[in-house]
Amino acid sequence: MKKTARAHTNIALVKYWGKKDKELIIPMNSSLSLTLDHFYTDTSVEFKEELTADNFSLNGVSKDAQQITNFLNLVRKLAGITTYAQVDSTNHVPTKAGLASSASAYAALALAASSAAGLTLSKKDLSRLARRGSGSACRSIYGGFVEWKMGTGDLDSYAVPFQEEVDWDIRMLAIVLNDAEKKISSRRGMQTVVATSPYYPAWVKTCHQDIGELKEAIEAKDFERLGTIAEENAMKMHALNLSASPHFNYFQPETLVAMQLVEELRAAGIPCYYTLDAGPNVKVLCLEKDVAQIKAKLAEAFNQEQLLLAAPGPGAHLLA
Ligand code: PMV
Repeated sequence: MKKTARAHTNIALVKYWGKKDKELIIPMNSSLSLTLDHFYTDTSVEFKEELTADNFSLNGVSKDAQQITNFLNLVRKLAGITTYAQVDSTNHVPTKAGLASSASAYAALALAASSAAGLTLSKKDLSRLARRGSGSACRSIYGGFVEWKMGTGDLDSYAVPFQEEVDWDIRMLAIVLNDAEKKISSRRGMQTVVATSPYYPAWVKTCHQDIGELKEAIEAKDFERLGTIAEENAMKMHALNLSASPHFNYFQPETLVAMQLVEELRAAGIPCYYTLDAGPNVKVLCLEKDVAQIKAKLAEAFNQEQLLLAAPGPGAHLLA
């Protein structure tokens, strides 16, 4: 039977940056994210006897299906089937937004494929399955604030909701920069820092502390504390990249311009904080009431079309 699932992307406030096990995707540290409302992937999966290979289309265009096949093999094994599938995905994550479309993509695929194969997985097992596609995808199974507990192996490394219903006007404003430069994949970036950064053990230690403090800040609705922890955690992640051998970074000139504008806003008394992932785009954490003023300031360097606003969003769910 054909099944269609929707999953939203998420932004990590305490980042996942380093694997303990590359095959099973077990992280070196736990992470904590916020699922976003406006950016999501819809994926439908149908296993069909007549197919001789998996077929995959993204936004209506036929694509190489190798990665999808690797992932579907996990689902086929779980379900005890050998049939191939037709997989059709539509990404509602703006391209080049620097938001992890792999997170929404694999969370949607995990739910649609397991359902189409006749499985009814618990959210825990769905999260474990999504993790095998892309680490950050395990967090997109849930809405709101979500923690990926690193665990020790395949069975105990999965996401759990920290606060699914977010009763708080927290927002994320993504500044879409020119993403023309060739980037280092998150896989390669992580591998390099784990193997070579002398600061790596300190990163693991402080992530543990950051998660504890971030949870307190969320519970207390202490936005300034949340923002400070998220911004500092992101900078620690990027410091790993700068301290690796060979060193690398994801910054472009406009990245630094955006960071400076956020700092100027903060100096002027508007609480807003930045975070960056494996790309040059800057995401600004803020409160709804300050969005207009922040956009006005960012207009000094960026067009309004470069600014994308998101609020907390829901977990992965079946559409049909
Ligand atoms: O899930 P991956 O392999 O795309 O890695 C995501 C890594 C970061 O986005 C930089 C951090 C995170 O926790 O999402």
